[in-house]
Amino acid sequence: MKLTSEIEAAAGVIRNGGLVAFPTETVYGLGANALDPVAVAKVFALKERPSFDPLIVHIADVKDINTLTALQDERVEMLARAFWPGPLTIVVKKDPKVPDIVTAGLDNVGLRMPANDIALRLIEASGFPIAAPSANKFGQLSPTRAEHVRKAFPSLRHILDGGPCRVGVESTVITLDDTGFLILRPGAVTREMLLKHLPASSGKVKSVLEAASPGHMPSHYSPAKPLYILGQQPLPHDTSRAAFLSADGSQAEGYAHVEILSAKGVLTEVAVNLFGALHRMEERPDIEFIVAQAVNEKGIGIAIMDRLRKAAFRYSAENL
Ligand code: TXA
Ligand code: MG
Repeated sequence: MKLTSEIEAAAGVIRNGGLVAFPTETVYGLGANALDPVAVAKVFALKERPSFDPLIVHIADVKDINTLTALQDERVEMLARAFWPGPLTIVVKKDPKVPDIVTAGLDNVGLRMPANDIALRLIEASGFPIAAPSANKFGQLSPTRAEHVRKAFPSLRHILDGGPCRVGVESTVITLDDTGFLILRPGAVTREMLLKHLPASSGKVKSVLEAASPGHMPSHYSPAKPLYILGQQPLPHDTSRAAFLSADGSQAEGYAHVEILSAKGVLTEVAVNLFGALHRMEERPDIEFIVAQAVNEKGIGIAIMDRLRKAAFRYSAENL
């Protein structure tokens, strides 16, 4: 009952041009009415996000694909049937009614239907598609719990608390072209899963270096402390004030603290626990830097390593 009235109040805030943070299965989003450019501008301002980085538009009904896109492509509905609600964002040609600020001036808009009941009810109750980036300050750690959102935006009044996010890394973002699909950001919907539905396509994962995709920068998602990937970067010699993030339960000697992301190396568990562990280590006064164990780049492991590399980028020897 209480949740219902909270969702209804939050829907009123969206209708009136305000901002609401809400849970999704991936990470928490900071939402505004996607059709109201003034409301969307408040998202960019609060997040301190550069205007060249487009927002994903969240919908609760597949019919909204038609109202928000200019060009019909039957592959989009087919993918929506296969993966929505779920962690897949499909970039399509936008209808002129989608304000330019949402798409950072691009002709394309990213659409996604989140697999979270609170998110879907909020979108339905507000009566508008909701433009929402992750609810963190630009470049900082993504939020997988309501308390992470409160930490980033202490003045934000409307935060719907749906508990911890079930997936833990942001959605897979894809575009479609004549030859197939291109993964702009890896996530829980993997290339292999997409290939089952687009068998004729040449599905590619765009490498970070060739990424012309807006908002894709080599450095992102960073904790407020240095992060190093074990075996991939030179580490400071003394780890006595460092935390070790263990992806398979293995212990490490000489660290102040060890966080077990998954006791048996289950990659979906590593994804769920990754941002939460980074938030905790960023807060602990006895920890000066973080060392993360790498994972196998298969399935969601590709998304995990993408996020770790972006978090570690500024501490790589060649980027110092
Ligand atoms: O899981 C998620 O996707 C979460 C939840 C809240 O839905 N949202 C999220 O949004 O991660 P954000 O803004 O933090 O990341 C969205 C990224 C952009 O940085 C950009 O790389 C890509 O998605 N994107 C969005 N719209 C695009 C477009 N029109 N063309 C190309 N890339 C786009
Ligand atoms: Mg983000």
